[in-house]
Amino acid sequence: CVLVLDFGSQYAQLIARRVREQNVYCRIVRHDLSAERIAELKPKGIILSGGPASVYEDGAPRCDPELFRLGIPVLGICYGMQLMCKALGGSVDHTPSREYGRARVAIQERRALFEGLPDAMDVWMSHGDQISGIGEAFQTMASTDTCPYAAIAHRELPVFGMQFHPEVTHTPLGSQVLHNFVIGVCGCEGTWHLGDFADALIEQIRKQVGSRRVICGLSGGVDSSVVAALLYKAIGPQLSCILIDNGLLRKDEQGAVITEFSNHFKADLRVVNAEQRFLETLKGISEPQEKRKRIGYAFIDCFQEEARSIEDAHFLAQGTLYPDVIESGAAKDGPAATIKLHHNVGGLPEKLGFELIEPLRDLFKDEVRRLGEELGLPEVLVWRHPFPGPGLAVRCLGEITREKLDVLREADEIVVNEIKAAGLYRQTSQAFAVLLPVQSVGVMGDARTYDNAVAIRSVNTDDFMTADWSRLPYDLLAKISTRIINEVKGVNRVCYDISSKPPATIEWE
Ligand code: XMP
Repeated sequence: CVLVLDFGSQYAQLIARRVREQNVYCRIVRHDLSAERIAELKPKGIILSGGPASVYEDGAPRCDPELFRLGIPVLGICYGMQLMCKALGGSVDHTPSREYGRARVAIQERRALFEGLPDAMDVWMSHGDQISGIGEAFQTMASTDTCPYAAIAHRELPVFGMQFHPEVTHTPLGSQVLHNFVIGVCGCEGTWHLGDFADALIEQIRKQVGSRRVICGLSGGVDSSVVAALLYKAIGPQLSCILIDNGLLRKDEQGAVITEFSNHFKADLRVVNAEQRFLETLKGISEPQEKRKRIGYAFIDCFQEEARSIEDAHFLAQGTLYPDVIESGAAKDGPAATIKLHHNVGGLPEKLGFELIEPLRDLFKDEVRRLGEELGLPEVLVWRHPFPGPGLAVRCLGEITREKLDVLREADEIVVNEIKAAGLYRQTSQAFAVLLPVQSVGVMGDARTYDNAVAIRSVNTDDFMTADWSRLPYDLLAKISTRIINEVKGVNRVCYDISSKPPATIEWE
């Protein structure tokens, strides 16, 4: 295993994912974990992440300097490198101007870290401080025009540092650098495979569950489907799934989930048709957070009622992922809770009276998708765009009515189907239609119309924390627009949302 010590970097999770892509298991831990505890965990390598602080500030996050003496290879990235350099005799200064963006490094010394790389390569820099002196203990491995110590290595210890970020895609050869570190320097074998991980999980679930019954909420999304697939493999007939149709699902979604489910599992599926109940509780409500709250409460009530009707239900399976565990501060040895940007209302509270099973709590989203593929789930399920718990309620701006939802469902289906037909569904991260609370004038045939406007939203993102609007081809946008206006009654205008997140969000509410 490789440990990433998190100094508050926005990239800590990305580093862990990149390491796991080398088939090496990687965990994110607190930056101040003691060297003693680190030694107990027996990692083969340690990566110090970047971070927003300056190493010479009071209260700046530090690591236990003894960790450099454990004989375990260490790679410090950006802030992590500065910290490491300072701890081992170098010096760090504030650069006159923040360096942010692409740079070209020239490699002077390869050691195992830069093995097989060209003499110069593009890298991504993002820092305010940089190393001003490396003392006797270090040697320079690479530099740029403005950064003399872009990469350094300790002369005696297996300790390396780089000012640039190998984990981001803007450093095209970054994966090779991380590969060299974990395989070449740390000696990891690169044999961690999701398939083996799944076998171990299935075994673990069997042990934990014994002969008792597990219930699992099904949403049609990839996480709950993979949880159900794992449980089904582990305990088959002891699994009961609950699908709550809140009336806020996409067109024909209930039917599609039932079909996919019955194609893959012979387990008990209970569908709760709760549209009326949700529409009732949403009547007259237009404030987004109030909508979310009401949907959340209604969901819990419905789920609880159904779950109670399942005799001897003991466990509740949840699709909690590693980023949720990390961000909530619940990971063992992990960093403290960070402010969660996701307003994830629409889940279940912890105290429903069931014991929890969270088989995905060590996995990232892309790993869940790969696991889904390994478990034989179809592409339509595994590569589905995420869909928020409150569903179309946050895409139908203002007050919700069944009629508005129906208009939105028709428009949304056209957006998604056309993006799929253009072969761009997997290249976009989330695409959908939004029904705006705006009427505008149009002309259809010879008649004046005064109808609704629909916005198309399509974004590309790695982590849904930041996102950019998708550069969809004009011809595709034209086709979507023409189809929506011709086929969806009540819509006479279509706009394309070209805002990025931040400052906008992905959803409109
Ligand atoms: P925003 O709009 O915050 O969305 O940029 C980021 C991601 O989170 C999803 N989202 C939600 N998911 N309950 C959920 O389960 C919610 O209340 C909720 N609000 C937003 C959104 O679809 C996007 O993937």
